Amino acid sequence: MGFRKDFLWGGATAANQCEGGYNEGGRGLANVDVVPIGKDRFPVISGDMKMLDFDDQHFYPAKVAIDMYHHWKEDIALFAEMGFKTYRMSIAWSRIFPMGDEKEPNEAGLQFYEDIFKECQKYGIEPLVTITHFDCPIHLIEKYGAWRSRELVGFYENLCKVIFNRYKGLVKYWLTFNEINMILHAPFMGAGLNFEPGDNKEQIKYQAAHHELLASAIATKIAHEVDPENKVGCMLAAGAYYPYSCKPEDVWASRQEDRENYFFIDVQSRGEYPAYALKKMERAGIQLEMAEGDLELLKAHTVDFISFSYYSSRVATTDPKLLEQTQGNIFASVKNPYLEASEWGWQIDPLGFRITLNDIYDRYQKPLFVVENGLGAVDVPDENGYVADDYRISYLAEHVQAMKDAVEIDGVDLLGYTTWGCIDLVSAGTGEMKKRYGFIYVDRDNEGNGTLKRSKKKSFDWYKKVIATNGEDLSN
Ligand code: BG6
Repeated sequence: MGFRKDFLWGGATAANQCEGGYNEGGRGLANVDVVPIGKDRFPVISGDMKMLDFDDQHFYPAKVAIDMYHHWKEDIALFAEMGFKTYRMSIAWSRIFPMGDEKEPNEAGLQFYEDIFKECQKYGIEPLVTITHFDCPIHLIEKYGAWRSRELVGFYENLCKVIFNRYKGLVKYWLTFNEINMILHAPFMGAGLNFEPGDNKEQIKYQAAHHELLASAIATKIAHEVDPENKVGCMLAAGAYYPYSCKPEDVWASRQEDRENYFFIDVQSRGEYPAYALKKMERAGIQLEMAEGDLELLKAHTVDFISFSYYSSRVATTDPKLLEQTQGNIFASVKNPYLEASEWGWQIDPLGFRITLNDIYDRYQKPLFVVENGLGAVDVPDENGYVADDYRISYLAEHVQAMKDAVEIDGVDLLGYTTWGCIDLVSAGTGEMKKRYGFIYVDRDNEGNGTLKRSKKKSFDWYKKVIATNGEDLSN
């Protein structure tokens, strides 16, 4: 009982939040590089403040991040020491195609990831690769308007052809777009979209979403053609919505919110635009431009598994008096009075994790993969860099238990679990280093000071034991 024997335990990172080396190895500039820390971060990631290059007034944490570009061997060795079965990471598009629209890829970029995958192989770690984790080459934004243009589908297709062929036999698990629903909430970070005054934002976002959905289906098609062993997943920023009360209006509001997110997965997993989304677009005057054959492609190439991130549940209400907002993974939500929250206001709800796993499995009946979960917290290391992060252990233990209940008691088919930010890295939402998720502490602060030295936290040995016992021993 419990988790399957080949359960894929591991951790997750994203290129732009850990690699650094933004101008090394022939890499081109990407949207994720030019997102600063500080008060302008949200206006930039939401596409309302245009920033397509660096300036002197801001600090850009992704330029160096935790410099994994030069530390990857050491980092993978630490992951192996914890017993990782899988390592979720992303490739930086602009390392492979610096501009995005070239015909030929950049060999140095391809080699960089090949070396990483081979290193993983050495330790028996199965890479789980996100093809796009929020990144889009700046050139594609400047010349084509990023995903608002259909041409991006072709450039992405080219990227997929190159990496699927090059990494055949090294990588089997692929995710097409990280948190695809983020396009609605952080359109510049999620899809390179910028808006001008007077733009019809909803029209642009849903058109760009159509392009990404199409690109995802084409990637799935090519992945299967190149190697029938390949398994392709979609990726959702998940977290069930609760109605604030049993008032029917609140229940209806929560359903609407859930649907806004599930819309993407409905298309990627069932292969069709759901009726509710078509109606919603019709009411909003959104007209999707589609080419002949698009709908057939979506229908024919659905994903093999569903992956998602879970940090928190969310709450919906129609009562204006109750609209006290709390933070949570870009999405602001109504505060749930029954839950505690992290230092960043993300509400902690392990049962919500079980509910979310069940909701998704009930809806799609495909294998699931939890590819992000964790606690962002302020860690205070001692003089040796050691952090006694019992708070993180207790968050993770409760969530692993909830996940186990979903598997053991409810019968959810779960392939694996990768905690977010298994090594400290730059926060996507805030740009801070101070918001840490890792089992491994990295000596670097919000201003870019620090030695970049890695050291094990208390949770390092705890997670090692969890993996060794296949989730049986969660004790601290
Ligand atoms: C998800 C992203 O939104 O949540 C990650 O896929 C991100 O890139 C993670 O880092 C945690 O969010 P944050 O804002 O705490 O970094």
